[in-house]
Amino acid sequence: MSKRLLIVEDDPGLQSQMRWCFSDELEIGLANDRDSALAALRRMEPDVVTLDLGLPPDPGGASQGFALLEDILRLAPQTKVIVVTGREDKENAVKAIGMGASDFYQKPLDADILTFVVNRALRLSELERENRELTNQPNGTSIKGIVAASPQMMTVCRTLEKVAPADVTTLITGETGTGKELLARALHDLSHRASKPFAAINCAAIPENLLESELFGYEKGAFTGATQSKKGKIETANGGTLFLDEIGDMPMALQSKLLRFLQERVVDRVGSVQPVAVDVRVVCATHREVKQLIEKGDFREDLYYRISEITLDVPALRDRDGDALVIANSLLKSLGKQMDRPNLSFAEDAVAAISQYPWPGNVREMINKVKRAIIMVDGKRIGADDLELECDKTTLSNTQLNLRQVRETAESQAITQALQTSGFNMAQAARLLGITRPTLYNLTDKYNIETSSEPSSV
Ligand SMILES: Nc1ncnc2c1ncn2[C@@H]1O[C@H](COP(=O)(O)OP(=O)(O)OP(=O)(O)O)[C@@H](O)[C@H]1O
Ligand SMILES: [Mg+2]
Repeated sequence: MSKRLLIVEDDPGLQSQMRWCFSDELEIGLANDRDSALAALRRMEPDVVTLDLGLPPDPGGASQGFALLEDILRLAPQTKVIVVTGREDKENAVKAIGMGASDFYQKPLDADILTFVVNRALRLSELERENRELTNQPNGTSIKGIVAASPQMMTVCRTLEKVAPADVTTLITGETGTGKELLARALHDLSHRASKPFAAINCAAIPENLLESELFGYEKGAFTGATQSKKGKIETANGGTLFLDEIGDMPMALQSKLLRFLQERVVDRVGSVQPVAVDVRVVCATHREVKQLIEKGDFREDLYYRISEITLDVPALRDRDGDALVIANSLLKSLGKQMDRPNLSFAEDAVAAISQYPWPGNVREMINKVKRAIIMVDGKRIGADDLELECDKTTLSNTQLNLRQVRETAESQAITQALQTSGFNMAQAARLLGITRPTLYNLTDKYNIETSSEPSSV
């Protein structure tokens, strides 16, 4: 992202001279009075402002300059302001520094000194931003690792935040790749058990005859090869959370044993007669329809009621309004960085295809497709074909005339959601949407979207 400098100077000659002191690598904004400076401040969010204190209607004094300095420091306190004063005007320079300006520069113009002072302020601003980012890792939602903007996912996240601290046995259902494991970990991380173990076991991945000893452990000599005793997953999770993934695939015989554990909270290691008391919070997940499994006789109804004290149903990606694009953009950013291909973006046909595609494999499938696209793309713009998605050309051409309209509606909805999600924090909302803050300001202006939670005055 290029660095941004705003030059506030009412003398047009001097303004253009200053402009030419800086290379094209800087994005430069110009303003000649307090109002135009404030508009530019909102629009471009400069890193550094050079501020001539003598602005109209008080070009000979410094009242307008000081008023503007106060505005800037209040509206955008992270901005570095360099005040520009007259030749002998030490007093105002000192006063401005006292108010919070970061540096001062005295006329007449000297290109070398001006660029030096501005570059120093830009560097400082960059360091401060890096520092902020390091201490404040951004997130799509308040829950670690979960990117979402749709009302459907917001509901799930809110429920999760309520359920996490309660020690209830929780069943997470949803199609493959919807984020069930991610949510299970979040339940643990947001509980009072967070500092204790999180032990996960995938009931579908372990052969039936091994699953019992994996879960419950065994005593030395319990079977051939059991040369010493071993704790099972349930015992390893003691004090923390036990995550039983793909619980729908658990064999019937083990279901009875698990039910007994959930009722009595003791485990019987295989080959042992000494039950061991264990304190765990149990979280289960499955992509299967448990009700159907029960009807077919493949799942115990009484176990189902035990494990589903609370059920979190994670909606499929196609049923979350706007999430596909928001997650795709977030993945493009994070995977692009990981894979050393930053600054990629989706072309229009990719955006349309991502929104149209039903994502049967949900976020997991999306991760694979975005990774592939990052590898395959020529240039910086990822097309639908790089994602191996069909962009329905007929719908695209049929809707081409109003594609702009469709995009604008979607954009404005996503922005509103992001603002609400982030509690009207512009920086966070921008990150959520995968755009810069200035772009977000432009869009909220364009669509006339409230940027604060205060009701607008009528
Ligand atoms: N909302 C989300 N934001 C960001 N990443 C997500 C989100 N949901 C899922 N993921 C990522 O997608 C991948 C799949 O998620 P996860 O393993 O939790 O899904 P699952 O429902 O357990 O899938 P399966 O049924 O296949 O086991 C993970 O890499 C996870 O980090
Ligand atoms: Mg899973």
